[in-house]
Order: sequence, then C-alpha cells, then structure tokens
Amino acid sequence: MRVGIMTGGGDSSGINAAIWAVVRRAHHYGWEVIGLRRGWAGLLERDTVPLSLEAVADIPYTGGTIIQTSRTNVFKIEKGPEKVLESIRALGLDALIAMGGDDTLGVAHRLCQMGLPAVGLPQTIDNDIGETDFSIGYDTAVSICTEAIRRMHSTNYSHQQDMLVEVMGRDAGWIAVNAGLAGGCHYLCVPEVPVDVADLCKHLEARRAAGAPYSMVCVSEGVTLSSGSVAGETDAFGHAKPGGVANALADDIKKETGVKPRVVILSYLQRSGPPSSFDCLLGMRMGARAVDLLHEKAYDRMVAAKGGTLVPVPLAEALARNRTVDIELYRLAQQLCREA
Ligand code: F6P
Repeated sequence: MRVGIMTGGGDSSGINAAIWAVVRRAHHYGWEVIGLRRGWAGLLERDTVPLSLEAVADIPYTGGTIIQTSRTNVFKIEKGPEKVLESIRALGLDALIAMGGDDTLGVAHRLCQMGLPAVGLPQTIDNDIGETDFSIGYDTAVSICTEAIRRMHSTNYSHQQDMLVEVMGRDAGWIAVNAGLAGGCHYLCVPEVPVDVADLCKHLEARRAAGAPYSMVCVSEGVTLSSGSVAGETDAFGHAKPGGVANALADDIKKETGVKPRVVILSYLQRSGPPSSFDCLLGMRMGARAVDLLHEKAYDRMVAAKGGTLVPVPLAEALARNRTVDIELYRLAQQLCREA
C-alpha cells in the first residue's frame, strides 16, 4: 500500500513527530509513505517527496512541517477536487492522511465524500477543532506564551507600565485563557466574549489606585472591541487575517484612561520551534493511530484525543462546530486573574 500525507493551514510544533510516527507505523505494515508538499497544492501539482525511515529519522524534535504547508482551498480552484482525485490515481496512492485545522480537514471530508480514502489528524495551535480535547501544536503554543508573559513581568514592574500581550486564536481563546492564567496576567480578553473596554479600564485604574505597579492583559487576536474590531485581508478560506488588535485596544485604553499600555504581539514565535514533550507524544500517538485507521479501512474519520485516550470520530462530527472556550471556564479564569 502507498499512503500519501499532507499538512495544510498554519503550521505548529508536533507535526513532524506525527509524520515520523506515520512513516514508522506504515513501515510496520510494509507500506510506503509519500509526502505531498505544500498542502493541497502538492496534490494539485503532484509535488511529492518519498518519506523513508531515514528521511524522517531526526524530525520528531523539530518545529514546522518538513513537507511544508499552504492555505490552498481545493474547492475554490476550477476542477480542483477532480484534479486532486486524478493526482491520487496518477501517483498510485491508496489512501491519504490529511493533517491540519478545520479548513484542511473540511476539504479532506468533502473529498472523502467524493470517494477519496482518507483520514484526518487535528493540528492547530488554536485548539478549536470539534470532538478532540487537544490538537497537535496547542500545548507548545501555550507553553511559549506562558513563558513569554512570565518573562515580561519584570520589565513592566521596572518601568511601572501596563502591557497588553496579544496571542493567536482566531475564533477561540484557548491560548489567551490558559497562557494568560498560567503567565500571571491580570485580565483576559477572548473572542468568545466581546471586550468591555470600560470594564477593563476600570480594572486597570483600580489596580493602579490600590498600589499595583503594573498590570498585564492577555488578548486573543480574534477579540471584538466595543470600538469595532480590526478587519484585514482574508485568506483562501475567507477568514479575516487577524493580528494587531492589541494596538487598537491600547488606543482605546489611552482614550479612556490617558495612559497607553505597552503592546507585545507574540505572533509566529508561538508557532515555531521544537514541540513540547506533550505535543511530540500527541503527534506520535495520533500519527500511528491514523495509520491504524487506514489499516482498518476506517476512512472519513479523524483521530481525536478524548479523556486521555485516542478515538476515531467521523470527520463530519469533528467539523460540525468550532470548539470554543467554555464560558464558565473563562469566567473562572478571569475571576482568578482579576483578584490580584
Ligand atoms: O492556524 C491557526 C493560526 O495560527 C491562527 O491562530 C492565526 O490567526 C492564523 O493561523 C495565522 O495564519 P497565517 O499563518 O496564514 O498568518
């Protein structure tokens, strides 16, 4: 059997560990693995790379994706789906493993419905794919953001300045809630709840009046502000490209309080570099399980982490809704952050 593997959408840390495990598990079954380069573009253009045991020997500890990625939307390209299915036949692929977020997995699901034998692996730092407690890359991003926030307390204390730290999370505030809490922020802003700028300013001023030398706020890039969110370009899947909303929030705060907080946008730093041991192991376990699903001919499924174990879930169910932050969990985290 000849298995193709592709990675689409934003990269993260832990992908290469999954590729490593796919190749090793496939080898166990006597199968060959072919990497499709640059996401769905690799299938459209038949741009491939053989993935032998040697080729992947040292990759589990590295960041990004060795087969590269893109945000190619097959369904936005004329005859795109047909071309992909044709490439599958021409390349002699018996099955495909697609790794990515809801866009990549959405394309995989639609192609499955057209007859492609494929399974999916959840990978996004946003951790917002349905039916799985964890997506590959999320834990590393939270760890990096936590570390960055912790490091910035000292400079804010020294200069007695407030700071907004913007983290990724287009539609879900998982990174903001958990890195903000673990990093010691004093206020959390997430996409699930519109930012009440007046309330935030009141909190910053109250802390200052009570003698706090500085405050730190963790801001998810996908938040909406009472002043109107910042809209940028859109990608091939029609998503607004976020990034920079903390600057607009800093301006709003200045208008209300007269003091402009410092702004740090962690951006791609949080998606780069070696995976945490959690993501490395999650990638390895999920990668191996994806191959087992192909062995069982259980197509149109995604490997999901649920309650400490891995289970296959129908891709349609995983894609049915975004996994956003539970509001009660957010409220508790916010209360714990605000008390200090
Ligand atoms: O893949 C998820 C994500 O990291 C989001 O958190 C972020 O908004 C987006 O990707 C950034 O996309 P790009 O890599 O295209 O700038």
